[in-house]
Amino acid sequence: MKVVLNLAKKEQKALFVIFGGTGDLAQRKLYPALFDLYKRGYLKKHFAVIGTARRPWSNGYYRDVVRSSIDGMVNSQSQIDEFASHFYYQSHNVNDVDHYETLRVLADKLDQDYGLEGNRLYYLAMSPSFFGTICEHLKSQGLTKTTGYNRVIIEKPFGHDYASAKKLNDEISKYFPEEATFRIDHYLGKEMIQNIMALRFGNSILSAIWNNKMISNIQVTLSESLGVEERGGYYDTAGALRDMVQNHILQIVALLVMDRPDSYCAKDVRKRKVETFKALKIYSPKEVAQNFVRGQYGAGKDMVAYREESMIAPDSMTETFVAGKLEVDNCDMAGVPIYIRTGKRLATKATRIDIVFKKDDDSLFGGQGLADNILTINVEPDTGIDFTLNTKKIGQEFATRQTNIGYRLTKEQVAKVPEAYERLILNALQGNSVNFTHWDELEYSWKFVDAIRNAWDQEDLPVDYFPNYACGTMGPQASDELLAKAGHHWIF
Ligand code: BG6
Repeated sequence: MKVVLNLAKKEQKALFVIFGGTGDLAQRKLYPALFDLYKRGYLKKHFAVIGTARRPWSNGYYRDVVRSSIDGMVNSQSQIDEFASHFYYQSHNVNDVDHYETLRVLADKLDQDYGLEGNRLYYLAMSPSFFGTICEHLKSQGLTKTTGYNRVIIEKPFGHDYASAKKLNDEISKYFPEEATFRIDHYLGKEMIQNIMALRFGNSILSAIWNNKMISNIQVTLSESLGVEERGGYYDTAGALRDMVQNHILQIVALLVMDRPDSYCAKDVRKRKVETFKALKIYSPKEVAQNFVRGQYGAGKDMVAYREESMIAPDSMTETFVAGKLEVDNCDMAGVPIYIRTGKRLATKATRIDIVFKKDDDSLFGGQGLADNILTINVEPDTGIDFTLNTKKIGQEFATRQTNIGYRLTKEQVAKVPEAYERLILNALQGNSVNFTHWDELEYSWKFVDAIRNAWDQEDLPVDYFPNYACGTMGPQASDELLAKAGHHWIF
């Protein structure tokens, strides 16, 4: 696979305009990511950040907020002072056209002062209901009339079903072409998720067995131990299916089952992913009932039930857990069940992928039964790979035992791994969209998810159907039964 991108380290020159600059995402993820880029030399003298939001903050106050968001990552006072001096605050009402004029004047000034060559990255870290308006005014008020590039980074959720996603996309694409639109899925910025393609297409021993002749089933688990925390308002309208399956899980599935792309560039990778999404079987309501399980957590030790969390209706029917069996009808993977599972308040926080291979003939060993060969990709925590093999039991007897070959990133390597947001922001600065979600992928993933959601909405479940799993477990029993029906079991 030819690598066509030149990702050589090089100082990036750009103005960041962050809509939602006072928000949680900006403070938890974006400012630390920018600081990491600064420490690693991707951002040096030629960058500036305008944070915008409604609150009337001063530059000084804003810089203090930025400073405290990177507390603990800093080597020296002069380093943090120099970094924070690139940040400017502009109080902004996204509906007020005049405010864009003020923003343009500031943007042009910073462009001159910092030598930014007209490169602009607009980061929309706020409610999607404003995306269309912001993009429209950025264009109409001349912010995008520069000699450099103008790109927009969009945070999730990108719609709540196909129709709303399409509407949103139509609004944005009137002002920013697809190649200038970077839709974030932060899982695509994770080291081990990016490792899937390297593993699959960099090892002939794996590519030769990555098919329905050799693979019994694939399991993708995104398990979280936390509950909904402060995000009840959003989560209760979304649920686990929209929050985790439509984006992160389906993107991982695409990387796991797509055919080999012609090159590692956005166009070729996307082509393969879209083919995979098109081959994903869309279920009828009856098939949804057979292949999908939903759950909602009840109380556990020192933990309240979902329905008792803040901003959640006491009779909420929103799912905090989903497990499902997917089928992809492409030649190599047709017939291989792909089991997916995600939930809040599960036993542990872990993201992992288990590829379970078909068992060999055990007649040579007196029909003792052989253990599964499993390739596990540990995304987080404990980043690494495990491969289980059958080897001879030590001693006189000719029998087998399961042996694990494990690879773990060392502490030093883990420290060097860029955080997902750092990696993705750098990709956007470099104009590299290979790790972003294209509209075509979204279109199919929403259609797949809508079929499940619609089937669930038609079911008239009694209110006491939930809760159906306790905090600290791995979800409802029906999730185990889903695999048991096919003679499988969750490896994790
Ligand atoms: C987000 C979801 O996209 O991913 C959250 O909205 C979830 O509900 C989060 O907690 C999980 O991300 P990570 O990187 O912590 O596994």
